[in-house]
Amino acid sequence: MKILLTGAGGQIGHDLIGALAAANHDVVSTDLAPRPPSHAHASGSSWKRLDVTDAAATERLFDEVKPDMVFHLAAILSARGEKDPRLAYDVNQTGTWNVLEACRKVGVGRLVFTSSIAVFGPPPSGPLPDPTPDDVALHPTTMYGVTKVAGELLCAYYTKKHNVDCRGVRFPGLISAAMPGGGSSDYALFMYVDAVRKGGYEAFARPDTRIPLMYMPDGVRALLEVAMADRERLSRCIYNIAAFSPRADEIAASVRRAIPEAQFTYSPDPRRQAILDSWPQSLDDSAARRDWSWKPRFDLDAMTDDLIPRVRRMLELGAVLSSH
Ligand code: SER
Repeated sequence: MKILLTGAGGQIGHDLIGALAAANHDVVSTDLAPRPPSHAHASGSSWKRLDVTDAAATERLFDEVKPDMVFHLAAILSARGEKDPRLAYDVNQTGTWNVLEACRKVGVGRLVFTSSIAVFGPPPSGPLPDPTPDDVALHPTTMYGVTKVAGELLCAYYTKKHNVDCRGVRFPGLISAAMPGGGSSDYALFMYVDAVRKGGYEAFARPDTRIPLMYMPDGVRALLEVAMADRERLSRCIYNIAAFSPRADEIAASVRRAIPEAQFTYSPDPRRQAILDSWPQSLDDSAARRDWSWKPRFDLDAMTDDLIPRVRRMLELGAVLSSH
């Protein structure tokens, strides 16, 4: 199958390109930026420049590539988006419109959308239910969340009205051996990266912060499974998916199992902490489990055991690349 990725240079793209190539798909990666050195493993697949805020360029490229399926990953994440809401609106909102329109005009049959726990926020009536189900009133507090809600609704609209079969997942905070990129959930990833490279980490979140998290291999598998599921099995376009929901200090304890000398302290940043506190503590993913047999494989400690050697390799490779 010919598959085009937008925002391929980000954290998800890094692992998704490899998984798609391993399944023998013909992958066309696109991003505003050139292929990052961390994506060198994907040198077999082609890399094209694409700014999704440019409608004409998006349609032109889709027409040239004529993909069977698009994974739309390009987005500005929550913390960076609050620093530059206009940029988040342009990339996430206008960009998603442009990608959907390009699919409709060029006749791309399927689009996979990456939504997020950031679509949720505290309803005026009280706290979110825990676990939070798919269908609660959505009150996002960030421009990232606002644009992801709109993206989900646009996906449902294009599926119904325009024959673009859109489906996707609401990702928990994703953790992988990659440098974080402007998310509020980045404290979890830094607990691993900085424990390896600095022997500890001062978290920008309180020790009792609890949000849904997921290890990237599960996240990539979820995307592939929802992408390939028969339409008849899908009762909705966008699904909650869940893996584990540790407190920040439980992540620290898990890292210390592998690196006993690692030191963790907590100095909450009010803006990012407020975003984290607005998100669900855990997700109800029963619809995904029922409709396309979703099931995570990694719990917190299994992730820690697999991830720490990968973070070590990533940092060694980064040091080698930056010395050239
Ligand atoms: N990980 C994202 C963020 O922190 C949420 O989807 O913005």
